[in-house]
Amino acid sequence: MNILGIHIGHDSSACLVRDGKIVADVAEERFTRAKHCSGPPLSAVGYCLESQNLTMKDIDAVAIPSNAPVVALNEMLDLKGPRQEKRSLAGRVEDQARRYLKRTTTKPPLYIKNFPLPDSVPLVRVEHHLAHAASAYYTGGTAEKQLIVTMDGSGDGVCIALWRGENGRIEPLQKFSNEASLGFFYGNVTEALGWWHGDGEGKTMGLAPYGDPDKARGVLDRFCPKFSGGQLVEPIQFRGPYSWNQGGAMQWHFDDAYDIQALVHKHGREHIAAEAQRLLEEQSKELIFPWLEKEKTRNLSCSGGIFLNVKLNQRVWESGRVDRHWIYPNAGDSGLAVGAALHVYHQMNPGKPIGTIDSLYWGPEYSEKQIEAVLQLRQLPYRRVDNVEEYVARQLAEDKIVAWFQGRMESGPRALGNRSILMSSNRKENKDIINARVKFREAFRPFCPSLLWESRHDYLENARDEFFMITSFTCKGPKRDKVPAVVHADATLRPQTVQQTFNPRYWTLINEFGKLTGEPLLLNTSLNIMSEPVINHPREAIRCFYDNGLDLLVMGNFVLSKDKQQTARG
Ligand SMILES: [Fe+2]
Repeated sequence: MNILGIHIGHDSSACLVRDGKIVADVAEERFTRAKHCSGPPLSAVGYCLESQNLTMKDIDAVAIPSNAPVVALNEMLDLKGPRQEKRSLAGRVEDQARRYLKRTTTKPPLYIKNFPLPDSVPLVRVEHHLAHAASAYYTGGTAEKQLIVTMDGSGDGVCIALWRGENGRIEPLQKFSNEASLGFFYGNVTEALGWWHGDGEGKTMGLAPYGDPDKARGVLDRFCPKFSGGQLVEPIQFRGPYSWNQGGAMQWHFDDAYDIQALVHKHGREHIAAEAQRLLEEQSKELIFPWLEKEKTRNLSCSGGIFLNVKLNQRVWESGRVDRHWIYPNAGDSGLAVGAALHVYHQMNPGKPIGTIDSLYWGPEYSEKQIEAVLQLRQLPYRRVDNVEEYVARQLAEDKIVAWFQGRMESGPRALGNRSILMSSNRKENKDIINARVKFREAFRPFCPSLLWESRHDYLENARDEFFMITSFTCKGPKRDKVPAVVHADATLRPQTVQQTFNPRYWTLINEFGKLTGEPLLLNTSLNIMSEPVINHPREAIRCFYDNGLDLLVMGNFVLSKDKQQTARG
């Protein structure tokens, strides 16, 4: 049975679930190269079908994670008639994503790839937060009773929802409308700090450990919804959102950000970030922990964009209130297509076992032949290295910066060893070097490590299986000086632990590096140019390689080096 999931909106995406298993999932931004692309995910749909040798005729159902009225995919283009009304910003603001779904034309332009859906194929709507909940429940590997929490800015008018997952079914417990939105609150602080709402929240989280929440204690209270005993006790009338489309992506603004900006000037950026993070953690706990008690469970699953906040996830795990803690790693809206498709699959097949995921490598891959053709066409010097893991490990041990392009692209915001930039984390200054030469980003932002799963207890306090960089852990004392380039200001790490079976080539590379340096752990950051999506295609990797200070580009077994002697030796 083939279920196609299609999410249209912030972080548009498409996925294919075959007999309950996710076999393809990709965000449209990876093709359009516009980060958070919100247009109809036509390229993503094309990839899902083509990679499985399917056409729309082979699809048993289409799942759409939205309550908005839905028409066929070929009608999702946002076309206007010739007498388009002039609309104010505020008018356009009203749920721009839904406009993609309105019937505005019956035929798309000829040059747009069309995916006509046979009339016999059901098109099933799955509410936004139910799709988030399903992405967590149906990938967690157990049907046992659990509390599912979904939190984001807003989706279908809901910002937080509590669910009971049990016996393969998801039952709603409570939903909160936008006046409870901790996502809006955190996004508003992000805007006040000078970054984009719905994009820069990770920077706010990264800045927070440099501040002291006590130096701004209470000053953000009037902007943040408050919870007690699992219920909303202080709602916020947010002054927004105003939204628009810029560069292919939805953007948001709230007037609250102006008032918060005045507080930033008064109290300092890092202290405001720290207070925002403290409030997010405190209020999330006031919401989640009472519901765990009420449901009499210590089993927690989470999804929704707020759970990309790895520090919040760490606090929940460290609280000792949960025995099992599963966060769907593609927690933001680009994970909605998967959630909707899995929900529809399990509705159509009640009683089927709940699967697990062992990777997020669900995107496009390029064969050795394809990669070599791209290199030859561009007349680039390269060479083929047989034991590329050993070779690259030696380069990394010499503090070279390596772009590592292998296999299928990761789904979700994190690079997990297939579209990664790698460097040794054994020298503190490597963090500054990679920031200045390659990533061109704020010096305070931390980098994450990939480490051998077998070594997790050497590095991580209170370690549990964490394969997807979705929770931070405190770094064990003796290791903090050994891998300083990935230890954050608060002595935490946000790790990907790599099991050999999940990614043999990446595991071997880290293992080889460990043999050379004593630390089976590498700094791993996403392969992309600043402010662009993670790289998908070899040609983009080449462009990236020559656009910054990377030393090596390794695609499959092919190695490009800026050290001409090294290339000539091949
Ligand atoms: Fe969402």
